[in-house]
Amino acid sequence: MQSTGLKKYKKISNMSTTKLTPILHNWVQNLKSQPSLLREAIEEYGSPLNIHNLEPFYENVNKYNEVFSNLNIQGKAFFARKANRCLSLLTGTHQHNYGIDTASYHELKQSLDQGVSSHNLVVTAAVKPDQLLELAIKNDVLIIIDNQDEVQAISRLADGKKVNVGFRLSGFKFNGSKAYSRFGIDILDAKDFITEHLASHPNLIYKGLHFHLDGYDLDQRRSALSDCIALSRDLEGTEFIDIGGGLLMNYLQSEEEWEAFDKRLRQGISGKSEEVTYRNNGLGYELVNGQVTGKLKTYPYYNNLNKDNALQYILEGEIADQLRAAGIELRIEPGRSLLDQVGFTIAKVIHRKKDQNGDHHIGLEMNMTQMLSGSADFLLDPIVLYNNSENLEPVDVYFTGAYCLERDVLLKRKISLDRLPEVNDLVIFPNTAGYMMHFFESEAHQFPLAKNVFVENKNGVMEFSKDQLSDVRH
Ligand SMILES: Cc1ncc(COP(=O)(O)O)c(C=O)c1O
Repeated sequence: MQSTGLKKYKKISNMSTTKLTPILHNWVQNLKSQPSLLREAIEEYGSPLNIHNLEPFYENVNKYNEVFSNLNIQGKAFFARKANRCLSLLTGTHQHNYGIDTASYHELKQSLDQGVSSHNLVVTAAVKPDQLLELAIKNDVLIIIDNQDEVQAISRLADGKKVNVGFRLSGFKFNGSKAYSRFGIDILDAKDFITEHLASHPNLIYKGLHFHLDGYDLDQRRSALSDCIALSRDLEGTEFIDIGGGLLMNYLQSEEEWEAFDKRLRQGISGKSEEVTYRNNGLGYELVNGQVTGKLKTYPYYNNLNKDNALQYILEGEIADQLRAAGIELRIEPGRSLLDQVGFTIAKVIHRKKDQNGDHHIGLEMNMTQMLSGSADFLLDPIVLYNNSENLEPVDVYFTGAYCLERDVLLKRKISLDRLPEVNDLVIFPNTAGYMMHFFESEAHQFPLAKNVFVENKNGVMEFSKDQLSDVRH
């Protein structure tokens, strides 16, 4: 029991947070029920460890491909590999019919080295140095142009060679206002920009239009796609329209839990009940003059409409009819949603302590960059694999990391557990393959990067193998 009495609300309940139960794919359930295997893996590869499985990745690819075939339109998913660095995710492009969206020289080089064909590759990098453009040009990889200087650079480096290009657009009007983006060419200027530059650079071969919108609004994507279809009528030779990523995925089992958490968070901030986050972090909400204002600045972890259903929603009806009639291929670049259920992170408990407020801190052998959300928090319950399951006494804890920063608190949310973890227990953070494990990882304090392994069910036996990525350093 928490005993400090320092906080007014602590005495009321020690299960003071709300649950956010993650969805777990069968392979994760399977491994979770074999803690000895996981302990061996941590012994061999170190803590933390990123464990992946390719089955859900291909299931996700197939779901998108089924939408295209059900709507009878040509389409392809290009995996935005910035969301996860593992090389194993590049190996199934031919067999499972997907492509790779690359955002840097090394992403492209590694994809080519893994044998991904040029027609399954696209370069959408935000900044495109000569080294990247040269590699793309040499290998006939489609380049998505963002600005005039890129046109000049491609033209200079191609030296007359034909280069397949698309144009990234932005500034689409939606619900009466124009969406701001620092990327792309304004849709209002697009026709002139494209026709003029194609006329003055005849080696640029126009293939299609591209956008990637900030946020996750499906209606906004539908509307931008409709604008691109309209523009394509003024441009000769549009073979594809690429609507980028941002297709929602669903991390959580229960909408009620998600809504209850939001309510509890706001109550905690307003002081009406005990805080549910570290130092009462509002995760976007703020208390102004006694009122909770602002909005939750995390990923929307619960989504009824997600992945293939989200794509279906964008395309169905007249959009699909128009694409079909025009013979235009619909491309998407999902990162996060293709990685749904593809990986989790597991780490070892090193210490337990109580802070000045009486809150339990569980120190793990990992750091904040090894599971870091671009949003305010990663809102999924972790799973503790206890070595010893006696003395069930519920407790609320924070999981803390190894960096010397006060803010290295791995989850901002306070987590309710059945009992206090012990040293050497393991903690699973589910569904971290998309952005969480790789996007912000760093080697500060000379901590090595986490190893990445893939697990395969071979006749009922779960076998681990190292992703080749572990050996690739730049
Ligand atoms: C151009 C482009 N395509 C695709 C993606 C992937 O988006 P998501 O992982 O949300 O699907 C991004 C993400 O930033 C992007 O910038």
